[in-house]
Amino acid sequence: MKYAYCDMPESLKGTYADYSRNFGFSWKEFVATVPSPLLLVTTYKSNGLPNACMQSWAAFTSANRGNGFYAILSSVNKNGHLYQTLQETREAVINFISADSHAACMATIRNNAFEADEITASGLTAEKADWVNAPMVKECFMNLECRYVWEKEIVPGDDHVMICLEVLGVHIEESRLADRTGEQGLLYNIHYQMNPEHVTKTGHDYAAVLQKKIDMMEY
Ligand SMILES: Cc1cc2nc3c(=O)[nH]c(=O)nc-3n(C[C@H](O)[C@H](O)[C@H](O)COP(=O)(O)O)c2cc1C
Repeated sequence: MKYAYCDMPESLKGTYADYSRNFGFSWKEFVATVPSPLLLVTTYKSNGLPNACMQSWAAFTSANRGNGFYAILSSVNKNGHLYQTLQETREAVINFISADSHAACMATIRNNAFEADEITASGLTAEKADWVNAPMVKECFMNLECRYVWEKEIVPGDDHVMICLEVLGVHIEESRLADRTGEQGLLYNIHYQMNPEHVTKTGHDYAAVLQKKIDMMEY
């Protein structure tokens, strides 16, 4: 038997899943709990200082008959520095966070002043990228250098926008060449699971690692 939900279940009313709509979250995020990668996207601000922005509404895809690899930042706040800097420089680095760099990457949220070097202020190290005009984060085990391709509002007039970036090149830490999953592999963001029939506790997000893999080629 499956329970079906189209309108917000009674049990969620008045909980965090309900009022987080004020911050841009649908209650369905807390019921569907679909994971997405946890990323730190870095750019240069117009004053030359590094900007760092946590992003988790995101997906990756190949296109152009396999000739290109693209990041879709599915929902970028138009009022944030990331959006502004992408308009100006049209280049960015997507840094992949693992458990050991998670706390420092999260600290970039607090160090968000225009006058701040958001990477250094958060205890991280900025490195020069090879192919784009954007800083890379040394402590992140994988960095994708990207170029802006297009943007589109999911709903016209929204304050967030979907942005497509083409991945030009990839850097991978030597110790992660054989495996980028598991305990120190890439992190996924999962919205806090709420039982739609009976909410006992509320929260916002979890950062999760991949613990089991199923080889699809074996089928
Ligand atoms: C785990 C996590 C995931 C986030 N995902 C997004 C996202 O997908 N889109 C977005 O616009 N903001 C997201 N944010 C919020 C921004 O990271 C935050 O507002 C940041 O300070 C904006 O930085 P900026 O002004 O440099 O753009 C997320 C924050 C956290 C902690």
